Amino acid sequence: MTTSDPPMPSRPRSATIILPAEPPPPIATTRTASPTTVKPPENKVAPAPVAPNLDAVPRPGEATVKLTIDGEQIEVRKGTNVLEAAKLLGRDICHFCYHPGLSIAASCRQCLVEIEKNPKLQPSCQQPVAEGMVVHTESPVVLEARRALLEFTLKNHPIDCPICDKAGECTLQRHYMDHDHQLTRVDVAKIRKAKHKDIGREIVLDQERCILCSRCVRFCDEIPGTGELTMTFRGDHQNLDIADGHRLDNAYSINVVDICPVGALTAKDFRFAIRPWELKATPTTCQGCATGCAIELQHKHEDAYRIVPRHDPDVNGHWMCDEGRYTYKELASDKRIRHARVDGQEVPLGHAIASIARRLRGNNKKVAAVFSGTATNEANRALADLAALLGAERFVLGRTAGKTDELLRDADKNPNMRGAIAAAGAAKHEGELGLELAGRAYDAVLFLDGTFELSEVVRSALGAINSVCLSDRITPLAEACSIVLPATSWGETLGTTINRQGRLRVLQPAWRPEGDRRERADLLRDIALALGERDLGSSRDRSAAIAQEFDHAGLDQLTREPIAARPTLLRFSNTRG
Ligand code: SF4
Ligand code: SF4
Ligand code: FES
Repeated sequence: MTTSDPPMPSRPRSATIILPAEPPPPIATTRTASPTTVKPPENKVAPAPVAPNLDAVPRPGEATVKLTIDGEQIEVRKGTNVLEAAKLLGRDICHFCYHPGLSIAASCRQCLVEIEKNPKLQPSCQQPVAEGMVVHTESPVVLEARRALLEFTLKNHPIDCPICDKAGECTLQRHYMDHDHQLTRVDVAKIRKAKHKDIGREIVLDQERCILCSRCVRFCDEIPGTGELTMTFRGDHQNLDIADGHRLDNAYSINVVDICPVGALTAKDFRFAIRPWELKATPTTCQGCATGCAIELQHKHEDAYRIVPRHDPDVNGHWMCDEGRYTYKELASDKRIRHARVDGQEVPLGHAIASIARRLRGNNKKVAAVFSGTATNEANRALADLAALLGAERFVLGRTAGKTDELLRDADKNPNMRGAIAAAGAAKHEGELGLELAGRAYDAVLFLDGTFELSEVVRSALGAINSVCLSDRITPLAEACSIVLPATSWGETLGTTINRQGRLRVLQPAWRPEGDRRERADLLRDIALALGERDLGSSRDRSAAIAQEFDHAGLDQLTREPIAARPTLLRFSNTRG
């Protein structure tokens, strides 16, 4: 967005007051008074894709309403608002304060539409559909109201775009370019408010940029129910602020950054890290707990920068927790294991697989196979097959329990404990593994993942036997094992997990793995082949079988094209989540 605010006059150096010889020239403007002469902006760009709220689509047996929007007839579920009904027709009515996951405030008036037989324009977010209703979303009077409202919203907006973290995915920028695109008429000083105010553990507020839509206030009131945010003062001095004596420290606080239409609320973790248009977005599943929220991993090449929620009405709605946002840090490239290690030495992958086969071979070798609640179904099922070939004892391990609440966070911090237990069958747990390893019950132990926090008993017992760990990053367990195989992280894996509800969740690779990193199921397949056993099948074959088992067309497609060529699509705050 460009600003055409008149330049600030330079301050005279002497104390003499210099009066202008003549009144300043009128500010150049192309703004027109008559709605009938509105011209579209010259460089109007195609609107961003519309994400319809599928709740508006009637299900069999539900009451429906037929209406006409811009000459097209549509039948929607009774109770739907006009804005959502229009979205189903691909019309994205310009709006700020409406968010499908929150109550309706109808305060910004940006979504006004013309409804026949109604004397005034109506906010489409608040207007329920009615039988026979005829709506116009692009009539001259609507277009002029839309432009006038944008001019009003921009009156005190600082136009920080070049230094604003939201630039590129700011709804105000987008609407200005699509629906206004005029020079400013403001020739008075803008109201100044607080900038970069630290209001919480994760969040910084810029009050000048706030357009007072109240989405963030409603979020805190209605979703975590913590109510830390409020409005103070009135008129053009109205301010979004934290309530007296509070900080915005709830467990879901970063969602306010997603839903803020402008750059008023920014996340400390992402501020100034990168411009959003440099990022690619991969739809995948959060690995932070058993809930398995639908997320988008945003990354540049092989580096992850942030996680934002994807809308999934059956699991996480529009939201995710702050804890889950930080799981991308596990993917940091400086922690990655890129090559196999045998007894502390980096070796070629084939060499390490051959060493494992040598150490596991032999009829009387007693082996422990440790399944993991942090690994995919594909990996756990491959380990079940290998354990059957080796006659291995089965254990299931996972991360230790953590914080929970009524909203999304589950105490079980493993994304796939259900899948691991199902694959392992009757299995033992960490306490028994510790005792049995300490009692020298096994000659070798094979860990499917390296993220477990093991007791001192287990760690010291590992020094006396052959221990193999499939790990994507350097962890204390990986360092304690005699052989480490480089596995892919969840950012590089095509796979599935089963969440706490028993739903299949899909992990999609964001980038291709570097070095010798391979999917765990493929590493286990190579071990079986090196032992002279049958081919266990590839990880991709297992995903295809799971797609059939769960009748999952999306996963089936991914098994053919796991890393699709994705265009960079900026997501705006009204569509994100
Ligand atoms: S901070 Fe953002 S979300 Fe909150 S009221 Fe202001 S513009 Fe709306
Ligand atoms: S609730 Fe669990 S799955 Fe959802 S974002 Fe948080 S950690 Fe991730
Ligand atoms: S009044 Fe409808 S979006 Fe704000």
